[in-house]
Amino acid sequence: MDFSVPSEVCIIGGAGHVGLPLALAFAKSGKSVLIYDINEESLRRIAAGEVPFMEDGAEELLPEVLASGRLQLSSDPARVADAETVIITIGTPVDEFLNPVFKLIRNCIDTLLPHLRDGQLLVLRSTVYPGTTDWLARHLNDHGRNLLISFCPERVVQGKALEEIQKLPQLISGVTDEARDKAAKLFSAVAPEVVYLEPIEAEFAKLFNNAYRYIEFAIANEFYMIMRAAGVDYNRVLEGMSKNYPRAKNIPKPGFAAGPCLFKDTMQLSAFSNNRFSLGHSAMLVNEGLVLHIVDEIGNSQKLENLTVGLLGMAFKADNDDTRSSLSYKLKKVLEFRAKRVLTTDPHVTTDSELLALEEVIEKSDLLILCVPHSSYKGLDLKGKEVVDIWGFFNKKAEGSTPALNTVTTVSGLPLSGVQHVG
Ligand SMILES: NC(=O)c1ccc[n+]([C@@H]2O[C@H](COP(=O)([O-])OP(=O)(O)OC[C@H]3O[C@@H](n4cnc5c(N)ncnc54)[C@H](O)[C@@H]3O)[C@@H](O)[C@H]2O)c1
Repeated sequence: MDFSVPSEVCIIGGAGHVGLPLALAFAKSGKSVLIYDINEESLRRIAAGEVPFMEDGAEELLPEVLASGRLQLSSDPARVADAETVIITIGTPVDEFLNPVFKLIRNCIDTLLPHLRDGQLLVLRSTVYPGTTDWLARHLNDHGRNLLISFCPERVVQGKALEEIQKLPQLISGVTDEARDKAAKLFSAVAPEVVYLEPIEAEFAKLFNNAYRYIEFAIANEFYMIMRAAGVDYNRVLEGMSKNYPRAKNIPKPGFAAGPCLFKDTMQLSAFSNNRFSLGHSAMLVNEGLVLHIVDEIGNSQKLENLTVGLLGMAFKADNDDTRSSLSYKLKKVLEFRAKRVLTTDPHVTTDSELLALEEVIEKSDLLILCVPHSSYKGLDLKGKEVVDIWGFFNKKAEGSTPALNTVTTVSGLPLSGVQHVG
């Protein structure tokens, strides 16, 4: 689908998790938007009114903006020339040595270079390695180009982008005042508040937001593992220590901390600081190590090689269909070596041909592991099967009910050696 009408905003990587909700939000605000992406299949699905991944509210909004004529799609880089503003949502992954892979963004820019126009506002929206915005300005300058360069990071939580774009303050930075002011005007159309930083400050702010979150999850997971070693039910401890105690109310529950952003961004900071981001490294060891801890615990009390293990939930987080960097797959890999058989299921994931129906996995497994607490698992009939539940999900009480701190709750289903229960 390729019209040739100039658009106000062109989103590079506009068919992705960051690009598409942003395109929809701008189109909803009345702007004409062009999605430019190299993934033809995603473009085809979006043009047909189909959202290629789970994103709250997008399925309703997409047909609306398509019908309005304000959303165009193209895989032709030449179309970028028409737009007043170009927003880049291509990320910087880390490689097998945990170093940033800068060439994706560089290659993307170099493809666009012949089509970028002097005077255009060029916004970096993806999470970038510190210094990328200034590099971009120098790179364009070296090619004799004169664009307005800005960095305005996306900070929404995946799956809730449409809601959060309208609720969260937008960090705004520009290489020049003119770039900053134009970017602020643009994002004021969708965000409730803008916050000004210098480009390097905004780059670090985004990475710190994610690394902080990753470390928070690691503390929860480490507390959990300490309690397992002591034979104490951590979810009861957490409930007790945070009940009506404001300074503990934000401690997360233990669980798999995964996905395409937190690990990667923590490792970018580590690479930036010559591998001296010690808390970031420790968080990585704890969060990734939780998978190994679970396998070891099972192996210490049962003959894993005789067990068929069923994994419930393969997405990287609850109520989502995205499997990128999901720790469920790391667990699967480890268990495929140690257990007799591994069966997997997920109600949302559509990209894995090995997934089985939930009932079949429960039926055929000797032991179940809850990898991701999807809402649809609430009240699930586990047919009396033993279940490892680090999240405390199957033991959750109804909201508002009195915490039963005297009750022995077996959170994981694993034998708790030397259990010391409060009360
Ligand atoms: N997923 C999130 O919720 C989230 C939140 C905040 C920040 N981020 C950051 O945003 C960036 C993008 O993440 P994402 O989750 O949207 O990734 P994604 O893989 O879902 O989307 C990237 C899109 O870019 C397209 N693409 C890749 N190379 C291209 C090129 N050269 N030209 C045109 N299109 C190209 C892909 O086809 C894809 O549609 C990353 O830096 C990520 O860390 C993601």
